[in-house]
Amino acid sequence: MRKVSLERVRAGVRVARTIQSLDGIILLSAGAELTNEKIDQLKHYNITEIYIEDELSRGIPVTEIVKEEIITDVKAQIKTIMTTPSLRISVDGKKVMEMVENLLSNLLKSEFIIMNLSDIRSVDDYTFSHSVNVCIMSLITGIVMGIKGEALKELGVGALLHDIGKVMIDDEILQKPTNLTINEFDEVKKHTVYGYEILKNSKDVSSTAQIIALSHHERKDGSGYPYNLKNNDIPVPARIVAIADVYDALTTNRIYRKKMLPHEVVDYMCSLSNKHFDKIALDAFISHIANYPVGTAVVLNSGEKGLVAKYNKNFPNRPVIRVVIDENGKMLVKPKEIDLFRRPEYRIVDIWDI
Ligand SMILES: [Fe+2]
Repeated sequence: MRKVSLERVRAGVRVARTIQSLDGIILLSAGAELTNEKIDQLKHYNITEIYIEDELSRGIPVTEIVKEEIITDVKAQIKTIMTTPSLRISVDGKKVMEMVENLLSNLLKSEFIIMNLSDIRSVDDYTFSHSVNVCIMSLITGIVMGIKGEALKELGVGALLHDIGKVMIDDEILQKPTNLTINEFDEVKKHTVYGYEILKNSKDVSSTAQIIALSHHERKDGSGYPYNLKNNDIPVPARIVAIADVYDALTTNRIYRKKMLPHEVVDYMCSLSNKHFDKIALDAFISHIANYPVGTAVVLNSGEKGLVAKYNKNFPNRPVIRVVIDENGKMLVKPKEIDLFRRPEYRIVDIWDI
């Protein structure tokens, strides 16, 4: 199976995985055939990408790091918390902890703990998807760094609620499609302090989670906010969440900015590793993120086009590519495989929009 943009998909194609709305409604079951009516319905639900089964991708399995139903459920619960006035000013820490434990037990069952973002962004409901993505990425980074037990769970709770303070910021500012004024940006910055206060006044929320909400925009060189903390003054869990937060934000389309390609984001973040990010946390993150998940159609630097067919363990960004189009744009009668781990001269340079 492979992942395609809904804009590109045509009626008649079979859906490879069940598609659910954020409210848990099944919009299409795995194996169902797409019709123009169904495509319009999916667009109505803000679904931007789906998995299909076709000739090009036959036999390519797509692995899930966390079951789709669990992600949909956590997103829905976060949405309820962030949109219900009584819940969002005093969060039920035990309930959020249960969500994190559920995500975590699923993650630990995965054969490889590799972040495969296609699994965690099928519904484009930014704030809630972003919270869950940042939580999963932070948990994996924490695991790679050797964080365990309660500390790991508290990292997950803080990551899931890192932007809870945004409920206090005017939506008009948060959704503004043009550049913010200095005053507006100062207002947005306050979401860190608001988040800290909300979590401090909530039941059963650890100080780690409170500090993550407060410090996830601090930067190593002191250029962050709200307190311009530097280096080791920034708590480790906040450094981890900062990385997941920036990666997820830059790889997602926003009203005011088009998304960057994942490998470009990684290059950009590495260039800032001494200024903004903790090097140990960034290395742990990068070594476990699959920029181009299995099933993604990609373009190689040779001009050949194909699909990511499988990962190489420990090198998720040097996967095996099933090449189906040669460098002259001709469809190969028999697809060939190029293992990027064994062929360092090859690189993925773009996503192939088919
Ligand atoms: Fe934030």
